Amino acid sequence: MDLIDIHPPTNRPTQQDGRPDPALPSFRLAARMAGLKPSAIREILKVTESPSVISFAGGLPAPELIPVSAISRAAQATLARDGEGALQYGPTEGHAPLRAWVCDQVRATAGLQASPDQVLITAGSQQGLDLVAKVLIDPGDVVLVDNPAYLGALQAFRAYEARLVGIPADGEGMRADRLREFLQTGGRRPKLLYLVPNFQNPTGSSLSAERRREIALVAAEFGIPILEDDPYGCLRYGGEAAPAVAALPETADCVYLGTTSKILAPGLRIAWLIARDPRLYERLVRAKQAVDLHTSSFSQRLVCSYVTQTGVLEGHIARLCAAYSLRRTAMLNALERAFPPGCTWTRPDGGLFVWAELPAPVDTEELLREAVRRGVTFVPGAAFWVGRSVRNTLRLNFSNASEGRIAEGISRLAEAIAACPGARP
Ligand SMILES: Cc1ncc(COP(=O)(O)O)c(C=O)c1O
Repeated sequence: MDLIDIHPPTNRPTQQDGRPDPALPSFRLAARMAGLKPSAIREILKVTESPSVISFAGGLPAPELIPVSAISRAAQATLARDGEGALQYGPTEGHAPLRAWVCDQVRATAGLQASPDQVLITAGSQQGLDLVAKVLIDPGDVVLVDNPAYLGALQAFRAYEARLVGIPADGEGMRADRLREFLQTGGRRPKLLYLVPNFQNPTGSSLSAERRREIALVAAEFGIPILEDDPYGCLRYGGEAAPAVAALPETADCVYLGTTSKILAPGLRIAWLIARDPRLYERLVRAKQAVDLHTSSFSQRLVCSYVTQTGVLEGHIARLCAAYSLRRTAMLNALERAFPPGCTWTRPDGGLFVWAELPAPVDTEELLREAVRRGVTFVPGAAFWVGRSVRNTLRLNFSNASEGRIAEGISRLAEAIAACPGARP
């Protein structure tokens, strides 16, 4: 059947005589789709499927560390204990025992006090980003973001036609002085300030405790709510933990997002959003109802069954941190050994990414072609920037390959750089 036939004739573009014009497309896209590009990462992931390719592209957990047997046992226990509940529709807000566990978890890991009626279980924190954007952003509204920033958040905000403004960062993340400077210039009051304070994607950098307070104070002074996205806070391999921005007394209005994707299994799609403002929470619930009614009842119960066993998740996270810490060190050592002079990179205390800057003439989108020819991939930095792209930057993931493959991949990448015009100082 031709796709065009799916549309009722009344919705078809018409000619002057009122009949549908077969030369015109039947599906006419909403204006908001104009700003929505395919994710650079998802496109690259398509070429990384061959086992010979070493991928530093996605933010994927190590496949061999996903606790498949334990998850399988939790799935069986869930079906045996409450099969009907697990396979039935459920409340939009989420499975009550899981929401209670989220409160314990964020108190222990982020110093955040929350009650279950402030917790909304979402299908990944990507859905949390979408819901917050859907509820708050009108076309043309300003959203302040890190620069560079997490691509999935940029996509979510762009889908609602936000005007994105990147606030410059230094080694400690977003600069509070530059945030204040921007807000003092007047103009339209931003709707939202988006932050990833722990091991940010793509740079791996973290906001110091002091910087968190400064940013929270500026945001409160100018009446800008914060959207804090924290998928990596539990993956720490060094340095001192700082409390969540949402937990600071300086913070006025904040929505906090957490997820099991990086600490358990992204395929389960279980995450949470914490909104203290009851009116906002209620709107977020309504928005979710319109999207998917509720997050998978089965996944929620399965995760609940896994995480509420004493010490099991903590033990798993400790194993992840031990393995990822070695992989991070392997990547930093390999970069030191193989990358040519003139390159710089971050040294993150946690998370999944290193961010590198090459000598300015190197365009990392061109470098990617050379790299793929040599069997290695990464994400060119251009897509993460808001405004002017810095095209000699790239993101490297270190969680998804063994230490040996990381060393091999970085030396292949160094060869690709050497083959790029302008790479030598
Ligand atoms: C900063 C950030 N936020 C949100 C997400 C989405 O995570 P989830 O799998 O929970 O949707 C990611 C995934 O990489 C991320 O890096």
